[in-house]
Amino acid sequence: MTDRIRALAADALPEVVRLRRAIHRRPELAFQEHETAALIAETLRQLGIEPITGVAQTGVVAHVEGARPGPTVALRADIDALPITEATGLDFSSETDGVMHACGHDAHTAMLLGAAGILHELREEWAGTVRLVFQPSEEKAPGGAHVMIEEGVLGPMGGHDGPAAIFGQHVFPELAAGLIGVRGGMFMASADEIYLTIRGQGGHAAAPEALVDAVLVQAHVLTALQAVISRNRPPGVPSLLSFGKVVAEGATNILPDAVQIEGTFRSMDEDWRARAHGLIRRTAEKTAQAFGATCEVEVREGYPALVNDAALAAAVRETAVALVGEDRVVDLPMWYASEDFAFYTQQVPGCFSVLGVGNEAEGITHGLHTPRMTVDEAALETGTAFLAALAVRQLAAGA
Ligand code: NI
Repeated sequence: MTDRIRALAADALPEVVRLRRAIHRRPELAFQEHETAALIAETLRQLGIEPITGVAQTGVVAHVEGARPGPTVALRADIDALPITEATGLDFSSETDGVMHACGHDAHTAMLLGAAGILHELREEWAGTVRLVFQPSEEKAPGGAHVMIEEGVLGPMGGHDGPAAIFGQHVFPELAAGLIGVRGGMFMASADEIYLTIRGQGGHAAAPEALVDAVLVQAHVLTALQAVISRNRPPGVPSLLSFGKVVAEGATNILPDAVQIEGTFRSMDEDWRARAHGLIRRTAEKTAQAFGATCEVEVREGYPALVNDAALAAAVRETAVALVGEDRVVDLPMWYASEDFAFYTQQVPGCFSVLGVGNEAEGITHGLHTPRMTVDEAALETGTAFLAALAVRQLAAGA
């Protein structure tokens, strides 16, 4: 079966590349992916697969049915682009000013369409249903995944059972093209935005005894927060706090009334995440209070921690080894980025893996979310085959 999938993916590569480039030319931001959704729906119809459109506004869901009844597994691709001005110089560069597929979601979408074709072609060979999930708005919190879930993408839909497992993959320029990276358990971080407003009392910097120095309070608050997080995090649970914006609009001789601080808190564990929010709040408020200032704390919750199901990840690794060979499968470290695929894995066993798309010789090394990010398209053959193989293998195992 793996050989047949590999051969069909090789045949499908020109079409997958064509689709990827068509999507790349016409990038659309979160929940505005109308053209992209239309292209997905049209491509599916040409394959003989009837799409369900308008799920979570611009999402598309479809089902590929095997010859015999059986369980359902889901494959997910995200379809949105980023507010970045492209600087790759490619002849299929973005035609929309200030919008770019700089996170490879064009490739994710094209590979899932390619996999749909392979699964459809091989439908006599497997039992069950593959649910294709084309999800809008991965890049913009609160994200499209939880809207897709609210609209039933993990439950019965279109006459098919909900999925027993869900798979997704992300392109990764730091890994050589065609390599597959997998990790079981904690994989990607939760990401919450932290906004602090420290209010003191401003005035002449030469008379601090009559004032409350919000700038000095800010220094203590940041130091205390770092200490509290590092001292309280459970062993084995990576966690970080980074503040990238501190605004104090005083001057050499003026103390401001207030200081604004913005940062991010990330962790790999949902219990600790919830507890850390409380600690951040208490520490900032009480530290400010000790100096006679106040601190307003706002925690805007982003995506949860992404934890890959351990058994599923082991099966994904085996599938990868069967497809590309042991020497082309990488055991990944944890990754502090966040992904709304995490919402799916909170509800059904799931595994999110990465596909190497880098090519140092061709200078394809620019990171995700940068204006020169691109992918070595040869890797799309591997990614397409891998998605199809994951579904077939999982269904054969009884999902
Ligand atoms: Ni992405």
